[in-house]
Amino acid sequence: FNSRILDGVRLTITAGPTREAIDPVRYISNHSSGKMGYALAAAAADAGAIVTLISGPTNLNCPERVSRVDVISAQDMLDASTATLGKCELFIACAAVADYRPAKAADQKIKKDNDSMHIDLVRNPDIVSTVANHSERPVTVGFAAETQDLLRYARGKLERKNLDLIIANDVSNSAIGFNANDNAVTAIWKDGQCDIPQMGKNQLAAQLITLIAQKFFAETR
Ligand code: C5P
Repeated sequence: FNSRILDGVRLTITAGPTREAIDPVRYISNHSSGKMGYALAAAAADAGAIVTLISGPTNLNCPERVSRVDVISAQDMLDASTATLGKCELFIACAAVADYRPAKAADQKIKKDNDSMHIDLVRNPDIVSTVANHSERPVTVGFAAETQDLLRYARGKLERKNLDLIIANDVSNSAIGFNANDNAVTAIWKDGQCDIPQMGKNQLAAQLITLIAQKFFAETR
């Protein structure tokens, strides 16, 4: 077993949630902790990769030997991600990107003058699809967090987003997934899949990095 399986490989990882501004003091976001993405960044750096971690707001410390780019919104995350294209060979999208953002963030704090209100939302860009369909496309890995029909939805995303590999996890089980310390996943690619049973996110990250490295070298060398 070679512990430096990604030696010198330039890798970008997105992690954490994004925040979409409603007004200067409010936002739309989700419960992503960033733990899985940070664990992958640490495991990849341990495996010798040159890691750029593009992170939404989290409470986590940047792993050693990882360079972190802090972002807030999905648009910021897209800009930071596309800026690494041509300079990265492998891209892992672990972020829980908000699907929608307010059509326009109010310039001033919105006052509670009415009994009801509505916020117009518009779709955010799909970061991993943009990366996977770029002319300087790195080997691209995505995640699929689902509450039902996990494998079917994940396989759909693998194809639709043009990914090389997708890591599916069942977020209906609160012991794994969002904010939990453990995770259990199924890795799915065009002509195969493999289950990784429940374990701590750090240990799982190391196993995923081994699998991703195998896939990376199968695609590129
Ligand atoms: O479509 P869905 O959000 O379930 O897809 C999840 C995968 O796509 C994850 O890898 C996530 O990081 C990525 N994604 C993205 N940009 C979005 C939405 C999802 O990169 N706007």
